[in-house]
Amino acid sequence: MKGFSFSRDILLGSATASVQIEGGDKNNNWYRWSEKGKIANGESSIDGCDHWRLFKEDIELLKELKQETYRMSVEWARIEPVQGEFNKQAMARYREEIELLVEAGIIPVVTLHHFSEPIWFEDIGGWNNKKSPEIFEKFTEFVVENLKDLVEDWATINEPNVYLQGRSLEGNFPPGKTSTLEYFKGAGNLIKGHILAYKKIHEIIPKAKVGVVIHYAYFDTKDNKFGTRIAKKIVARNFHDIFIKGMFEGRLLFPLGLFVKGVELGNYCDYIGINYYSRHGVKTSGKIGMLFSQIYVFQNSMYNDLGWEIYPEGLSKGIEELYSQYKLPVWITENGTPDHKDEFRGKFIYDHLKEVNKLLEKGIPVERYYHWSTMDNFEWDLGYSPRFGLVEIDYNNMERKIRKSGEFYRDIIQKKGVTE
Ligand code: NOJ
Repeated sequence: MKGFSFSRDILLGSATASVQIEGGDKNNNWYRWSEKGKIANGESSIDGCDHWRLFKEDIELLKELKQETYRMSVEWARIEPVQGEFNKQAMARYREEIELLVEAGIIPVVTLHHFSEPIWFEDIGGWNNKKSPEIFEKFTEFVVENLKDLVEDWATINEPNVYLQGRSLEGNFPPGKTSTLEYFKGAGNLIKGHILAYKKIHEIIPKAKVGVVIHYAYFDTKDNKFGTRIAKKIVARNFHDIFIKGMFEGRLLFPLGLFVKGVELGNYCDYIGINYYSRHGVKTSGKIGMLFSQIYVFQNSMYNDLGWEIYPEGLSKGIEELYSQYKLPVWITENGTPDHKDEFRGKFIYDHLKEVNKLLEKGIPVERYYHWSTMDNFEWDLGYSPRFGLVEIDYNNMERKIRKSGEFYRDIIQKKGVTE
């Protein structure tokens, strides 16, 4: 490993999400999904990592790991368990957690919607309900009013593309009803929800930094044939562009405008929020389906525990693509790998941060990097077996242990690079 030092200032930290670590909440749709037996090995979101109880211990771990910033989410179902009835105790508990972060000098970024929602919201159609953007706006207002003295940095919605794909195309996310029409309808409402939340947060905290977190899968092709290029365009359009154009600019690509009204053009992101995990091959598909294209995994490469290709260059290539469209500061809101033996996570971190440094050298303002994840957690329908954490969780007794790769990352943070 050859060393490097970051050529510009960058804040380094890690990320989690409420349902994935907290445990104990029965009002969210993932609990109901667990009860229906939809999680691998019959597991349940009810356990999480017991973070709801152990948050102080976890903040001590963040301090030990020298984290400069921490991305977390607040659980809508805890804060608004019944529509229109806000739970002040849940809010106070989040305040306590965030106060401790701030006291420790760890800058919090709060995500408002990270794949989970209250059961009542799902039961009124979730993001297919045409009032969903306004309903989300009210929740946003309550949270932001209660945290405005502590939190300046916000992410409205996490990976709307992956969330909707699971929810409406693949059906592995609740409520499991698949429909392409619902995918586009939901996309329109999520875009409007983001825009309303963006405006509301700025109304309450004028200097806030607000963005959306886009899962930027780097799409690549093996040849440059006309058909392959079209296939890639279609995938990129339906998976990325409809959300990016919509949430950054208020531009509704067809057919979203058929489903949502009252979205105006504007600038609705203060930073580029990007989650990057892997590269995906794209080729034409014989079938004239919605996407005309097929996704595959490149062969003869490196793969993580879930079989995703490890392709660090995709991070910098993806950011360059996005930055060429929007000249905004870049926050890598997630990047990580499942590696239960902790064999290659250290190298993964090193290789990806090296790509980040290349971007900094080119003058692209990557301001933040959040490793996914601070600790092992509930990986949605896949349950607890994928191990993404800098910290290992022993689910038998909820004991936490910093992994070697966690220590390696801590040293990078302290040295702002890797010494040879
Ligand atoms: C992105 C999602 O935001 C997060 O919840 C998930 O655990 C990671 N990807 C890993 O799949």
